[in-house]
Amino acid sequence: MEKGRVLVTGAAGYIGSHTVVELVNAGYEVIGVDNFSNSSPDMLKGVEKITDRKIPFMQLDCSDREQFAKVFEQYPDIAASIHFAAYKAVGESVQQPIKYFENNLRSLLCLTELSVKDGRERGIVFSSSCTVYGEPDPENLPISENAPVKPATSPYGRTKQMCEDILRDCVTAYPSLRVTALRYFNPIGAHPSALIGEMPVGVPQNLVPYITQTAAGIRKELKIFGNDYPTPDGTCIRDYIYVCDLAKAHVAAVDRMLRTDGSDRYAIFNLGTGTGLSVLQLVNHFISATGVSLPYSFAPRRAGDIIKVWADPRKANRILGWKADTPIDDVLRSAWAWEKKVRGIR
Ligand code: UFG
Repeated sequence: MEKGRVLVTGAAGYIGSHTVVELVNAGYEVIGVDNFSNSSPDMLKGVEKITDRKIPFMQLDCSDREQFAKVFEQYPDIAASIHFAAYKAVGESVQQPIKYFENNLRSLLCLTELSVKDGRERGIVFSSSCTVYGEPDPENLPISENAPVKPATSPYGRTKQMCEDILRDCVTAYPSLRVTALRYFNPIGAHPSALIGEMPVGVPQNLVPYITQTAAGIRKELKIFGNDYPTPDGTCIRDYIYVCDLAKAHVAAVDRMLRTDGSDRYAIFNLGTGTGLSVLQLVNHFISATGVSLPYSFAPRRAGDIIKVWADPRKANRILGWKADTPIDDVLRSAWAWEKKVRGIR
């Protein structure tokens, strides 16, 4: 049974591609858009293989309003959009803030304007981040949606905060609009088919791609940034969430927006497992789950890193009827299977 049409921006990206799979599995019609600035058409091929479906797709830049408008002209029945398309490199955003504000804000403004223009009821699911909480006060852990939003530590983080604020104001101004902001913790892993996964350009900045590339022999060793933090083993703690679990939360968020009576038109959910793991714990899980050796050493702290953060996901568990429950070893095996597939390792 078809449930309605969902526009996915950044459909060829890491989380976007996994979400398209889950939307199709759940019976939604999908229209994907992407400009491939940080993604590859191969990812869409992977999605089509997994779902055994041709996914309608338009290559365009969401910050180009004229191009983007064509999507809504062609598919006026879009019931909801999931907005993944954005730049996401924290370090680069510090070097090139204008690029980040220009792209991330403009594309959201275009999407919102096009969503409300004809007065049809529509929803937007926005990819936000736990980065909006900054360094949480230790007594606030696990961190709930009620925790204060702290001044962002990077322009990337600031675009997430600003986009949330823009959407909140637009929900107030436009009665036809509903919004769900999803604050992701640390998404990792790949689809069990190993047909889609994370594809970092250049040297990976994030932990798990660096681990899998090191295990594959592409990087000499993993550097663990800091082992003198005030945590049990001295390394930073994060809440690592399986990308397929994360993708399913988007489907649950769309279901809810299209189902509910509209009394709660702006909602925020934390998407995490509720459990924090240290860098060292994650590394040890990888080694034991895959049986692969992983050379690593300790290095100085990385500037800007948060010491420890993990989610209180109970609001999403309760209201979305969703839970991230894939065991971490399975998640890490999926990341390794994907890396091996990409590198042609048996
Ligand atoms: N780490 C290493 N070595 C590496 C890479 C990472 O030790 O080579 C450590 C980091 O210092 C950190 C942990 O692994 O302690 C996780 O680092 P990631 O870069 O994987 O993830 P972050 O938590 O730093 O960043 C993620 C997203 C950002 C987002 C942020 C929100 O990548 O987009 O969460 O907190 F802004």
